[in-house]
Amino acid sequence: MNVLLIGSGGRENAFAWKLAQSKKLNTLFVCPGNAGTLQFATNVNIAESDFEEIKKFVIKNVIKMVLVGPEGPLVNGIYDFFKEDTQLSNIPVIGPSKIGAQLEGSKDFSKQFMIRHSIPTASYGTFTKEQLPEALDFLVKFNPPYVIKADGLAAGKGVVILNNLKDAKVELTEMLVNAKFGNASSKVVIEEFLKGIELSVFVLTDGKNYKILPSAKDYKRIGEGDTGLNTGGMGAVSPVPFADETFLKKVEERVIIPTVEGLRKENVEYKGFIFIGLMNCGGEPYVIEYNCRMGDPETEVVVPRIKSDLLELFEAVGNQTLNEIQVELDERIAVTVMLVSAGYPGDFEKEKIITGTENVKQSLVFHAGTKIEGKDLVTNGGRVMAITSFGDTIEEAIGLSMKNAELINFDNKYYRKDIGNDLIKL
Ligand code: AMP
Ligand code: GLY
Repeated sequence: MNVLLIGSGGRENAFAWKLAQSKKLNTLFVCPGNAGTLQFATNVNIAESDFEEIKKFVIKNVIKMVLVGPEGPLVNGIYDFFKEDTQLSNIPVIGPSKIGAQLEGSKDFSKQFMIRHSIPTASYGTFTKEQLPEALDFLVKFNPPYVIKADGLAAGKGVVILNNLKDAKVELTEMLVNAKFGNASSKVVIEEFLKGIELSVFVLTDGKNYKILPSAKDYKRIGEGDTGLNTGGMGAVSPVPFADETFLKKVEERVIIPTVEGLRKENVEYKGFIFIGLMNCGGEPYVIEYNCRMGDPETEVVVPRIKSDLLELFEAVGNQTLNEIQVELDERIAVTVMLVSAGYPGDFEKEKIITGTENVKQSLVFHAGTKIEGKDLVTNGGRVMAITSFGDTIEEAIGLSMKNAELINFDNKYYRKDIGNDLIKL
């Protein structure tokens, strides 16, 4: 079958690499894609937000399935756009409906959902601009650090954690009154700080059944030792050693089942990935956030560990027959390390020539911000490439990714050399 994949990052390159291995795939198209997806697919120059153009393309190219990588088109209702169009309604879109995507699109929505279904999460309050005095009073009830979240999508920057009350009050006012994150902070969530170790669990659901995919830990800060600014993610490891069977059982019973059941009971159509950001607080799982898609760079370690045919899994999602399928996993450890442009996550230069990818033989190279310019492969984003390696031990996987990261060059390349080190002795 012909498949359209929407997105342009390392996540989409990993999906494209995996889908290209499916016996069921005829032609893969990626919109808009990157230089990496070109190895497996035809890139299509249509904006992710241009549903009308996507529709024309899907009809013309006899697309039989659409996989949505990023949250933007999902929050904007691409699932519903297909469902409500008589020419498109038979084509499965892998991703939730617009209302389902609100699990990521609105922190308040997701908190209310968790409360309705008794899913463990930090206690919280939601406030609008008109409620600033109440919000300031509410803040005082918590001990530091203070966690303040813009309700809407804010390009991964909408969560601020502050150590003292004075700064927290300033931040709260900035968000609510001075619209620091634009419309996204017209509402804010203030919540209890959870102390523990973070990890992410990924679920694929067809709305009735679900499959738990490998867990992963990502490294969000730019600097080694988890210092400096937040990024989209500088590396990831799967599986997570501290997510043992006992812990994952609690996650399944207290979080995954009530989430899938809750969506079903509320008639929220959801046929796609649920990315559950968790805090392990002394062995007890608490949900920090939901995302309505796979993570990036988590996909670059989770997807390579799935041995089963991904397209078959997606077909089962579309038909609501996931219960009939077994997901086979690679038991080895996967580690990915992101090569980024100097300056990222702040301003960075693009169009730096990239060399050496052909020398990488022992790792998978997933492109993120890359493009072809004339005959050259050049940088085209902050996060440039993810280098994924397998190992029987975490040390082995880290070692391979570090060694192969060195073989690729572009001006002022930067990567964290401590990805996974905190997990070695666990
Ligand atoms: P989010 O965008 O909701 O994933 O939040 C970004 C990051 O802020 C998370 O990955 C956590 O490290 C941190 N965070 C969010 N909420 C809390 C919380 N209630 N307690 C502690 N850390 C949090
Ligand atoms: N790596 C975090 C995310 O994809 O949201």
